[in-house]
Amino acid sequence: MWGGRYKLGPAEIMERINASIGFDKRLYAQDIAGSMAHAEMLVARRIISAADGRAIRRGLAQVQAEIESGKFRFSTKLEDIHFHVEARLTELIGPAGGRLHTARSRNDQVALDVRLWVRDALDRFDAMLLDLQTALIDRAEEHAATIMPGFTHLQTAQPVTFGHHLLAYVEMFGRDRGRLADCRARLNESPLGAAALAGSPHPIDPRMTARALGFDRPMANSLDAVSDRDYVVEFLGAASLCAVHLSRLAEEIVIWCSAPFRFIALSDAFTTGSSIMPQKRNPDAAELARGKTGRILGAFVALCTMLKGLPLTYGKDMQEDKEPLFDAADSLELGIAAMAGMVRDLKANKTRMRAVASADYSVATDLADWLVRKAGLPFRQAHHVTGRLVGIAHERGIDLHELPLADMRAVEPKIDRGVYRVLTVEASVAARKSPGGTAPANVARAVGEARRRFLPARRRR
Ligand code: ARG
Repeated sequence: MWGGRYKLGPAEIMERINASIGFDKRLYAQDIAGSMAHAEMLVARRIISAADGRAIRRGLAQVQAEIESGKFRFSTKLEDIHFHVEARLTELIGPAGGRLHTARSRNDQVALDVRLWVRDALDRFDAMLLDLQTALIDRAEEHAATIMPGFTHLQTAQPVTFGHHLLAYVEMFGRDRGRLADCRARLNESPLGAAALAGSPHPIDPRMTARALGFDRPMANSLDAVSDRDYVVEFLGAASLCAVHLSRLAEEIVIWCSAPFRFIALSDAFTTGSSIMPQKRNPDAAELARGKTGRILGAFVALCTMLKGLPLTYGKDMQEDKEPLFDAADSLELGIAAMAGMVRDLKANKTRMRAVASADYSVATDLADWLVRKAGLPFRQAHHVTGRLVGIAHERGIDLHELPLADMRAVEPKIDRGVYRVLTVEASVAARKSPGGTAPANVARAVGEARRRFLPARRRR
């Protein structure tokens, strides 16, 4: 393709280090779509003839069909997907194929292909996260009143509802979708027309190709157009944070499944057995969703490191953007799908969750709050009184609601028998009606609000 001033072929190692076809063949559809739009523009601007334009478009369609049917032959001799498509096109239609690359360089071409690929990925991930949110919201509705222990420091803190817990993840994945949407809005400019780096002397119309490919506008600066990979970094940044969220949920699933917790069970569909311990049910899918986070964060770091210190404009270093990008996208896709599957699959053990939620004086704060509201104590004093009562109950090995009234009054005479009404986990969660709080009534309402905020009309119910 660039043989004019070359007499010798490349060293074997040169060919090996240079070739990207092994991975950039994934860009074939984007590459061909870009070439179709470019050819059409060349015809419209009378840079090539209408007949050549027709031949090019017909040839490109055939190349695409060959790739999709698996008949296409790839070779490292042809370096990358751009050369492969053009070489086969010229084989098919003759010299007219050589006119396609007028007013274009592989530099604006690859920038376009990757941009289109990331844009498709953003749309795919938005749909996948929407599906995960749908699963979480449906389960939250079912478990709006299911009581579980809420933790801080992974120590029992206060009772919460399982539905409320699941809706917390709906918020996280909602922010992830927001980041993807931001990335998409900034990404949606076309680099075509920048050519190698400086623009083109041909009377091209970059607005036409931009429009044809669904971009908002052409990029304003040709040097930036070929050297920018911000959209890859932004996507990987958003993907990293999303992976972190998936990993937190995955970790909870692992913990909840383990015997000392037994809050949930996963079915055969989402567990694996052990080759030696017949009783085992391992939550491998959750562990792998958690484990894949490192590759996705790694891709983000790899991209930033690759770009850091690169002078304008294109450098071959930038060919290194693709493998981390593809790997991160594949990993994230698996992770989201597996989490959605597990959320739909899991069976909550309500009895066990409630029992653990009731243990360890989880309603102590309710007692302190009762002392503030009914006995008029300053919160600090109420906290102190409650601490003493918890101490007494603990010494006797009983729960707060099992402490006789007389013993409570010996510590704080303003206590009356009304206090026992707040000393149950049901009363505790029902009382937390503050905005965003865990009360079952709140959760039921929050489910409806989450559907309105996050789901398109056809997926609400
Ligand atoms: N395979 C290259 C890449 O992925 C395509 C662009 C090559 N451009 C060039 N001037 N060598 O970045």
